[in-house]
Formats: sequence, structure tokens, C-alpha cells
Amino acid sequence: MKTLLKLFCFIPMLVATQAMRADVCSTPWTDNDVIISNTTVNYSSIIDISCASSVTISMDIEGIGNMENADYLNIYYRIDGGQQQTIAEHVNTISLQTIQANSITGNSLELIIVGATSINTEVYTVSNINISANGTTPTTTIRIEENEVGFCLVDGTIDNNHTGFSGDGFANTANVLDNGIDTKIDGDAGDYTFTWRFANGSSVNRLSRLIVNGVTITDNIPFVSTSSWSSWSTTTATVTLTAGIKEVRLEAMTSSGLANIDYVEIESVNVAAYSCTAVVGDCQSFYQGFSLAQQNPGCSNNDGTITVNFSDEPNYTALQLSIDGGNTYPITVNDNTGSYTFNGLAGAEYEIAARYTDATCSFNVGHLILVQDCGSIPLNPGGVSWMDSYEGNGYCWCSTNFDHNLSSKQVTINGTLYSVEDICEELELHPLYRTRISSDNIYNDIQCGNGPINDSSDEPLCPGRVDIGVGGCLENGHHWDMVWLANRDRFGASNAKLNAHATENKSDIYLFPTLADDRIDLVGVNYGEKFMIYSVSGQLVDQSIFLGTIDVSALSAGNYLVVTSSASIRFTKK
Ligand code: GCU
Ligand code: CA
Repeated sequence: MKTLLKLFCFIPMLVATQAMRADVCSTPWTDNDVIISNTTVNYSSIIDISCASSVTISMDIEGIGNMENADYLNIYYRIDGGQQQTIAEHVNTISLQTIQANSITGNSLELIIVGATSINTEVYTVSNINISANGTTPTTTIRIEENEVGFCLVDGTIDNNHTGFSGDGFANTANVLDNGIDTKIDGDAGDYTFTWRFANGSSVNRLSRLIVNGVTITDNIPFVSTSSWSSWSTTTATVTLTAGIKEVRLEAMTSSGLANIDYVEIESVNVAAYSCTAVVGDCQSFYQGFSLAQQNPGCSNNDGTITVNFSDEPNYTALQLSIDGGNTYPITVNDNTGSYTFNGLAGAEYEIAARYTDATCSFNVGHLILVQDCGSIPLNPGGVSWMDSYEGNGYCWCSTNFDHNLSSKQVTINGTLYSVEDICEELELHPLYRTRISSDNIYNDIQCGNGPINDSSDEPLCPGRVDIGVGGCLENGHHWDMVWLANRDRFGASNAKLNAHATENKSDIYLFPTLADDRIDLVGVNYGEKFMIYSVSGQLVDQSIFLGTIDVSALSAGNYLVVTSSASIRFTKK
């Protein structure tokens, strides 16, 4: 017979720990014993472990009674709302033992204790439940007083006519709803504990709201009566904020305005008062003052350079430079018109960023790729070993082992993508199909120079005929019989329109003009994507980042291939 036993609930100690303000976490965290008889699922509260480097969960478990394998006790935890992790799973009786989970990191933790026994004389006990922190991230506490850094404005006056204040006095808002005090801080993402020292000589609780960057984060913060304007007390609110510079406003929720505020203290990781008067308006001219130059490293050296040129800006004396996209700013230089050169760089991608030393106006100056300069490697098309297709009877046929990732390539027929493997197999049923004879022209692309291209590093430079040396690299042959393919059942012939056809999605990029004077434009290439230009003989003649158009004025007349990470396309320089 089953008896319903009382469920024991977790009692979080969050509130008590916060009041101590040793840190903003709720570790150490303990709980009352959990007794399980019959089926029970217990969830703890969400326990804040954000200030701990890691935590250890530990508890004692025991299972007594005439138990069977159907009786069980399982202990789990979950970090930041993620997947349930197992600490222990037991069936049957359990002798008294301590179980632990170590080195748990994250911001919030939830314990889940699940158990079942079949009768009420079978009992699992979970006791000494404890979550302890292993090292904490130290917090900083700052105090912002009127007339000091971080104190921006009061909708009222700074007064000193009641004793007991610190600093110059206290901030006294006019007694009007929504009047407030503005402050400005910087700091990491995480919990922030605000403590205001205040006096409220009126009898009304002057409830207030906390607004950060224009958004109300919490409200009904109590500023209760202190009975006299010279009696001071404190009130506290803990909130979670994002990283960066924050405008913080304490605002009155009653028509009495705020209490008189002596100061606010703020505790968090890396919190700092931030200047309310920092000049941030002239970032635009800061941005425009930059230019970049690069020098590639030698073939086997890490001796590339990036030079950042900058201009002089009024109001600032120093700026900082980064080549990892602003993760670190290892270089601080005087803000005069000048330049700085990063030396000793390896062939790699670099994101150049700059900002003022007070962290304002940060922006990405540019994205550069340094390539080890090993001279140009003449292309030597590998003849028959590069063959993936050949021409015969006026069409193109496959002859390939689908290497260089060819088997993943697809082509659209009747609006659907089909693998080139399927197409090649089907083509062997074509009435004009024949195996290759030695006089047939051979090509690198699976479709006689018409794509799709394969993923080899050098072969895409030579999509066309590979049996006559580099001169054939850009020579296209016949297509597959696309009309015949579009009328095959295998490729959705019932979807075929009157003008049934299939298209080769060899390349999603378009280039114009194909007969170029000074510049070419590429459509379908991402801004910032790397491109290379090769001559017909496979010489690398130019490479850079695509920024809208490509200046080809320096190239001599002839045929060239532009290669991007996804496609290649040819043009002729006049
Ligand atoms: C009094 C007191 C002020 C206070 C004000 C108020 O005038 O002197 O310091 O700010 O009351 O009600 O807010
Ligand atoms: Ca007032």
C-alpha cells in the first residue's frame, strides 16, 4: 500500500547571502535534507554561481529498507539551463556515502533529485547538501559621490544643509514624479549590487526605479522613512547587467521625488565610474583618418608587416591599435599624425582595429590577409591524370573517380539539384554515349570546362582542356546533353517545361565587363572575400580583398582567371 509522504522542498539561501554582500553569488549554498519515499522529484532553486571560478557539489546519500531494483535514487544537476548531468544513479539499498561533482563552471546551477520507492518503509535520505565555491572572481566596489567622476546630473540641487553626509553634500531632487539622478559606469557583464545611502525625513516610502541605458531594470526599490533628514540609512538592489559603458538612472516613482541621496556604492567585477563628459562625438573624423599598408612575409619567414597610418585628432592624446579585431590592444601610440608598423607577422588573416585609450570610438580599420610570398608557381596541367570528362559525338561525357570532392557537387535540372554522380550514371544511357577513344579532347571540369569545378587547390585554375598544356586551360568544350537529361524520369521529367533545360551551377558569380579596360566588377562575391587573379599560364598576378571593384589596370593584355573561395571566372584584359 502506498502512503503519500510529505515532499521536502529546497530552501534557497540566496537572500541572506546577498545581504552580506561578500560577493554577488549564492555560494556557499546548503539545503535541508531531502527524504524520498514513494515517487518524488525535487528541483532546487536556480543557484547563482557566477562569481565562483568553479563549484563543488557534495551530499550524503543513503537508502534503507527492504528495497528492490525498481527502487531508485538519481541525482542530477543542470548548468545555465542546459542538459541534465548525472552525479549519481542508484537502485536498491544504498549504504551511507558521500557523492560529489567537482570543477563545475557556469553562471547558474540547478539540482534535481529524483527517486522512488514502492512502500513507505523504504526511504532514501539525501543530507548535507552543499555547493561550495572554489576561488571567486574578485569584485570591485566603487562609490560615486556628487561632483565626482561618474556623477552626471541631478534633477534638483546638491545640498549640504542636513548633517551626516559624506563628500560635498547630497543630491536632492525636486519633489516631482520621475525626477532622478544620472550616473555612468563601465564594467563586465554580470551581477551589480547598488547600495544607496539616503535620508528620508518624510513619512512616505519614496519608491524608486533603476534605469540602465534607458531600460527599467528593477523598480519599487524601497527608500523608507528615516524619520529625519539628518538620519541616514542604506538600501540595496542587485541586478544583472551587460558589459560596457552604462548610463544608470535612479528615478522617483512617487510625486515626492527621490530621498536625499548621499552616494551610491556599486559592487561588481571590474566596475568603474565612467566620465560623463568624455568626448565621443568626433569618432567619424577619427575613423576617416586611417589607412593601411601591408607587406607579405617571405616564403619561409614570419616577417610580414602591417602599417597603420593615422591622423591627429583634437581632444585626444593617445590611441590604441589591435590586429585581432579588438580582442586585445597591445599598442598604445601618441595621437599625432603618424603611423605604427606591426612587424614579424606570419601569413594569416588580421583584423585591424583602433580606439581611443578611454575605449571610445573603437572600430575595425580593415581586414588584411598576409600571404607567404613564394613567387608564382607555374601551372602544369596534369594531362590524362587530370581528366574528369571528354568530348565525343558532340557532347560531353564523364570519366572521373569523383576525386577532389566532386561527388558533393550538384547541378540543377528541372529546378532540383542532382548530384553529378547521378548525372554521370544516367548519361551512360544516352543514345550517343560512347566510351572515350584516344583522340577525344579531355577536360578537367567534370563537364568539359563548364563546371562544377572541383575542390583541388590548383586544378580550378585550369578548368578546361588539359591535354594541350596551359594554353588549353581556359578552353571550354561541349556541355552535357542538358535537354535529354531534363526529359529523363530520374530528373523529374514530368516537371519539364516545353523549353526543358538544365543549368550548370558552375559558378554563382558574374563578372563584367568580360573585356576589361581598367576595372572589373564581380557580382555574387562577398565584400571582404579574398580573391586571386591568375594568368593563363597559372601565374598568380594579383590577390587582395574584394571591396567593390577590382583594379586591373596594371595587368598586361591577355586572358585571366579570377578565383574566389567558391568559384572561378575568367575575363580578358584589353
Ligand atoms: C525638505 C528637506 C530636503 C528634502 C525635501 C523633500 O525640504 O530639507 O532636503 O529634499 O524636504 O521632501 O524631498
Ligand atoms: Ca527633495
